[in-house]
Amino acid sequence: MDFTLENISSQQGKMAIVTGANTGLGFETALGLAKVDATVILACRNLEKAEAAKTEILTKVPDAKLEVMQLDLASLSSVREFSAQYREKYAHLDLLINNAGIMFPPYSKTEDGFESQIGVNHLGHFLLTALLIDLMPDNSDSRIVSLSSNAHKFGKINFDDLQSEQKYSSTAAYGQSKLACLMFADELDRKLKASDKNILSVAAHPGVAQTELSRHMPGFMVTLIRWTIAPFITHPVDEAALPTLLAALGSEVKGGDYFGPQGTAEMTGKPGIAVKADHAKDTDVTAKLWQVSEELTGQKFVV
Ligand SMILES: NC(=O)c1ccc[n+]([C@@H]2O[C@H](COP(=O)([O-])OP(=O)(O)OC[C@H]3O[C@@H](n4cnc5c(N)ncnc54)[C@H](OP(=O)(O)O)[C@@H]3O)[C@@H](O)[C@H]2O)c1
Repeated sequence: MDFTLENISSQQGKMAIVTGANTGLGFETALGLAKVDATVILACRNLEKAEAAKTEILTKVPDAKLEVMQLDLASLSSVREFSAQYREKYAHLDLLINNAGIMFPPYSKTEDGFESQIGVNHLGHFLLTALLIDLMPDNSDSRIVSLSSNAHKFGKINFDDLQSEQKYSSTAAYGQSKLACLMFADELDRKLKASDKNILSVAAHPGVAQTELSRHMPGFMVTLIRWTIAPFITHPVDEAALPTLLAALGSEVKGGDYFGPQGTAEMTGKPGIAVKADHAKDTDVTAKLWQVSEELTGQKFVV
């Protein structure tokens, strides 16, 4: 049966955090979770944009239970502050949607000196998950969803220059970061299973959707794509968010699953099981990435 929110039972009482919920896929994911009655924390770096998103969701779901909280994934201290504030207010967490991301920015570093894409897309979410996972009830409705991308297929974890200090390619660094997100989901799944935990770590990718993610691409290229191939290789943002929602809410989901659209080259289409590149399944690299992520964030990740 096709996944649709209409078949999902009420998630009343469930707590969900969506990072980067103010726009794009994060917004659609938060909206979807609000529609099925979950309480949704819009974890965003810009509070003004987050409040505007909250208002927009309320126009569509008037009884939505929403809260805006500040989270800048480019700052480990902000991640720690967010987690501390969440823990002060809430005793449990059911869904952690590690959605926020940046793509192809000019070279820059996060507050802690990480290349910005590996810093925001992977390391910030690694720390966030480490700081909140003990709040998740030990059952299979508790899920951590990590957003990867088809771009993981050209990604390589370059341990010799993880921060791209010797050489920076914005596309290679994006591929590296999205591969890291997928490897993180899989390694977390392995650790949860090894600890006999029932919490699920899963990954998802949206295919291709026209969002603000292209903000760092040259304007002419975005326009060119929009007027030429976009209708063939993109799908609407609400459809593109369905793999994430399936990962978060689907009843048949197993730890380690990876969801994406089922059309040509997984760019568009209905959500289902997606293909992981062979090199994404390299457990030596995955284990080393985990260890390096612990060192870089200064956080022992206890499952
Ligand atoms: N769109 C696609 O075709 C596509 C394809 C594959 C994978 N993805 C993945 O899907 C996810 C969502 O992308 P999208 O297309 O929805 O992009 P988007 O429209 O650009 O939204 C990205 C979100 O991430 C937030 N964000 C960026 N840096 C942040 C930081 N330092 N701290 C906290 N939040 C931050 C943004 O906040 P601001 O609004 O404040 O910048 C925004 O809310 C990303 O992980 C992306 O890699 C997207």
